[in-house]
Amino acid sequence: MKVKKAVIPAAGFGTRMLPITKAQPKEMVPVVHKPVIQYVVEEAYFSGINDILIITGRGKRAIEDHFDRSDIPKKEKFTEELDNILKEINIFFVRQKEQRGLGDAVNYAESFVDDEPFALLLGDTITFPPCTKELIETYNKFKTSIIAVEEVPHEKVNLYGIVDCKEIENFVFLIEDLIEKPGKDEAPSNLAILGRYILTPEIFDAIRNTEPGKGNEIQLTDAMRMLNMRERMYAYLFRGKRYDIGNKLDWLIANIEVAVSDSELGEAVKRFLNSI
Ligand code: G1P
Repeated sequence: MKVKKAVIPAAGFGTRMLPITKAQPKEMVPVVHKPVIQYVVEEAYFSGINDILIITGRGKRAIEDHFDRSDIPKKEKFTEELDNILKEINIFFVRQKEQRGLGDAVNYAESFVDDEPFALLLGDTITFPPCTKELIETYNKFKTSIIAVEEVPHEKVNLYGIVDCKEIENFVFLIEDLIEKPGKDEAPSNLAILGRYILTPEIFDAIRNTEPGKGNEIQLTDAMRMLNMRERMYAYLFRGKRYDIGNKLDWLIANIEVAVSDSELGEAVKRFLNSI
């Protein structure tokens, strides 16, 4: 079955980005011309997906307004670009009732997803080139849940979901186990879940049976661990760039990298960077 739907959780607090996120969602923080969530929606669209569910919550209304039609009379390149995409996609919204963790947020997608595999894209993470496109291509070969991972320095394994796996072909690994934010001595590898997944709908049953884990939250990684006991799951090593915009350094680096390769601003930004 083809992957035709995407789910974007955007319900978490932006604690690490305070005070920028005191009155605006972290997903609306700009990276040069556009807010982060727009890059995420575009990634889904350019990966061939037209139905997108965004899971929001309290204080996230700006996200809905951003994807509403624009009443701006003057033509503006980036607004037009977005309007053209919006003509071709359907965006649905649902609000998480309580902040009970990523696994709980994903569970709100059950009736939207129905019985199809779906792409899951964390709303505060951007990837270049679009990781979801590569994941879908790999899914089409293996036809089971597959999650994108990247190598992280050993001292950072405690910030991510980490997979224990063995390579079966170039860049594809069979998952043996998963662990959310392990201690440095517990981590089975340095392959970290980066925020892009293709999941089968069996994940919902697993989430329902998952007890609160790290941080007393329902962790998606714990639910995937259960799913992995029931069906084969693969990890895909993404070699592109990935920025976690919930983190100030990554956010700044993303802005610089996007700015230096921008057709309008690039040369001037490079001159400025050289000058300092
Ligand atoms: C979440 C997931 C974690 C994953 C990470 C990627 O954690 O729980 O498994 O590695 O996203 O950014 P968070 O960053 O929300 O704490």
